[in-house]
Amino acid sequence: MKTGTVLAALCVVGLTMPAMAGPREDILQGYASAAKSADAGFTGFDAARGKTLYGQQNTASAESPSCASCHSASPLEPGKTRAGKIIDPMAVSATPDRYTDAAKVEKWFGRNCNTVLGRDCTAVEKGDFITYLSSL
Ligand code: HEC
Repeated sequence: MKTGTVLAALCVVGLTMPAMAGPREDILQGYASAAKSADAGFTGFDAARGKTLYGQQNTASAESPSCASCHSASPLEPGKTRAGKIIDPMAVSATPDRYTDAAKVEKWFGRNCNTVLGRDCTAVEKGDFITYLSSL
């Protein structure tokens, strides 16, 4: 996609996001559009809300009460599945190909949000989460 096209798309939803074209930006753009259609008052993703989602303790699962349960307290460090398999760090600065495959991103949000929160994550939560992990 040309930079001009991306900029035009960003203007349509009224967002101020970095104008770097790429798969991660396309994924964020998709979540921004979904967030905007769910709530006309949506003004943009927020890394601080994403940080809260990453660490907050939930009640849906005793074994995995937070995203950090598997992904480690610091997103810059590797995490571990319940079976003990190593998970690469979630921060884009540590694992550069994070959030670049839309099908993978949706598959794991679907699975993990339901485990940890007992429901799907909203488009805003998904965008906040990726925004936070791209900011570290
Ligand atoms: C039970 C363990 C576990 C928990 C809890 C967990 N995850 Fe994950 N997550 C994984 C595994 C395993 C993968 C796939 C391996 C990988 O991507 O390195 C993954 C991958 C992901 C991905 C895909 C990353 C990419 O590169 O595209 C996202 C997004 C994600 N998780 C979000 C979350 C969120 C949000 C939470 C909390 C609501 C959460 N996860 C909690 C185990 C977990």
